[in-house]
Amino acid sequence: MNIIDKALDLLKGGKLVAIPTETVYGLGADAKNPLAVQKIYAVKGRPPTNPLIIHIPNADAMSHFATDIPEDAWRLAKAFWPGPLTLILNRHTSVPPATTGGQDTVALRVPNHSITLELLARFGGGIAAPSANRYGRISPTTTDHVREELGSKVDYIVEGGPCQIGIESTIVYLAAGSAMILRQGHISATELTAVLGYDIMVKGGPAIEAPGSSLSHYAPIKPLYLLEKLSLQNIMTQLNDQKRHYDVISFASPPEIEPYISQWITASNDPIQYAQHLYSHLRDLDKTNSECILVEAPPNTELWLAITDRLARAARPLE
Ligand code: TXA
Ligand code: MG
Repeated sequence: MNIIDKALDLLKGGKLVAIPTETVYGLGADAKNPLAVQKIYAVKGRPPTNPLIIHIPNADAMSHFATDIPEDAWRLAKAFWPGPLTLILNRHTSVPPATTGGQDTVALRVPNHSITLELLARFGGGIAAPSANRYGRISPTTTDHVREELGSKVDYIVEGGPCQIGIESTIVYLAAGSAMILRQGHISATELTAVLGYDIMVKGGPAIEAPGSSLSHYAPIKPLYLLEKLSLQNIMTQLNDQKRHYDVISFASPPEIEPYISQWITASNDPIQYAQHLYSHLRDLDKTNSECILVEAPPNTELWLAITDRLARAARPLE
């Protein structure tokens, strides 16, 4: 049996299948089967009020999952699907509330991955899939990461290679009036605004804010500190004085002699490449024998917003 046949059989039987997408791997189940969907919440340890994204094969399928679809949704779908954009619309009554965490709205997206697109086309329905990690942890961008996170709790993992984008989709709310960004991603406000013809709103404040524990997400197990270049140098000096080991992700090259640096990653200056490798880097650094991870804050520009948002949520305030 080939990969897609096997995944199809399992999904139809109410099982959990991890699926590749261009952003991150998803933990998939039949979106219209409440029992299957409940397994997703159980396996992830995710609160049942936190809604899932339903992956659909194409824009036309939107009307099987949503009602009162505004013109803006069709426009954005046409411009960006398949791709890393999730649209929040009014829920169609055929979608079980279990899938939307009890919300009257529903999140839809057509992922840009050839295997998953074929799977969706043949499945006929929608695949509900949050990122395939335990709740609050780093999203997986390879099948090894999925195995590391979920092990035998997932019935099958579809191998689709490393994810090309590496961070989660941009989420746009469209269920009332004008569009609003709920989560930053690869597709920027400028790109969305160009298609919509009006300035899209962005929910929340600046991307870097003091991350309270309730915001903690995408997080390694050891403490991660997000620091401007100058404070990064200060902290490194302090840790050296205290003989404590640490890892660094910086845009600079590593200093020549530095006995307390466990691993130093020189990050790409290109936000596309940075995003592609970010979660792998964080997972690797989580496995070293250091006490903490220091990350140099990226530039304060639009192209880096989604990355800064993820880092800010992964970070802890300095004690
Ligand atoms: O790129 C992605 O979006 C990946 C891949 C697998 O598609 N999925 C993903 O799912 O990141 P997850 O569950 O980790 O994040 C989904 C986000 C959550 O923050 C959730 O609150 C939000 O989407 N969401 C889903 N349905 C919503 C709704 N009806 N209203 C508001 N937010 C919603
Ligand atoms: Mg997630």
